[in-house]
Amino acid sequence: MSDTSTSTTRLTKFYGEMSPSLDTVMSALLAAGVDTDHVKASDLYRRDLDCHNLGMHRMLEILKDVAEEYGRPVPEDTLLDLGCGLGGPGRFLVDQFGCSVVGVDLLPLRVELARALTDLTRMGERISYRVADATNLGVEDASFAQAWMLDVSMHIRDKQALFGEIARVLRPDGLLVMHEQTGPLPKAMLPVRRRAPYIAPSFPQLIRYVEGAGLRVLTWRDTTHIVLEYFVRMRALLGDQSEAVPAVSARRQHDVGLTVLDGYLETLANLGGRTGILVAKRVT
Ligand SMILES: C[S@@+](CC[C@H](N)C(=O)[O-])C[C@H]1O[C@@H](n2cnc3c(N)ncnc32)[C@H](O)[C@@H]1O
Repeated sequence: MSDTSTSTTRLTKFYGEMSPSLDTVMSALLAAGVDTDHVKASDLYRRDLDCHNLGMHRMLEILKDVAEEYGRPVPEDTLLDLGCGLGGPGRFLVDQFGCSVVGVDLLPLRVELARALTDLTRMGERISYRVADATNLGVEDASFAQAWMLDVSMHIRDKQALFGEIARVLRPDGLLVMHEQTGPLPKAMLPVRRRAPYIAPSFPQLIRYVEGAGLRVLTWRDTTHIVLEYFVRMRALLGDQSEAVPAVSARRQHDVGLTVLDGYLETLANLGGRTGILVAKRVT
């Protein structure tokens, strides 16, 4: 099997175990008293139901504030939500800026749920989806005003191809807004890395990849303490539920969640791991 198809197989299993079903999301909305005939994007993202970024909704708000320092999207703009997962970040962007979004993810199972949630929120006119590899998007040059990529590059081995593709599809002066963990990854991340590809360059290497693609880094904001706070809260929640997870699939999702949380917690709290927001501009 090629390197790419091995990594797709591993990611499919990993996110298959981590992703909620549409029924789970609907049950959570009902339990929260939301009228499920009139679901708004904010009903989902404010409850962290459709995001899988580090720090969830709180981090989306911080990312928005940082990105706005360098350029606020206008309604005529189209933004790329790269590695869109369940589509939470893209719906957040449309909700906040009234722009359009194209969500791209490697995994059909993620795009299917992203589409279903976008239909639920009646945002289909503003958001479309593609199943594609981030290193080969199959869209025209200079298509996007901004590319948002939240906690995705970690899964992609060929960083040169990734950032080259982002630079290609950004408009001149377009912005890359990304969130990521930097390497090297310590042994504490091994249980997570056994489940899925996690390849993190050091901070200087990351900057070299980004700038080597024709993007100029405008800022890096460390977010480690925010991610850590989020993980501590989640760990307490998941730990409390350890005795009471009924169905086999829910048990598996719970166990994978614990493995990921524990790896990150140890790395960020005790081993010098770092996360941050990077904003870069296309300059060539
Ligand atoms: C940690 S999740 C983040 C999802 C989303 N950005 C969010 O913040 O909710 C990483 C996502 O990247 C996607 N992904 C991984 N490798 C990819 C690739 N080569 N091309 C496109 N998407 C990819 C995964 O399928 C997954 O949905």
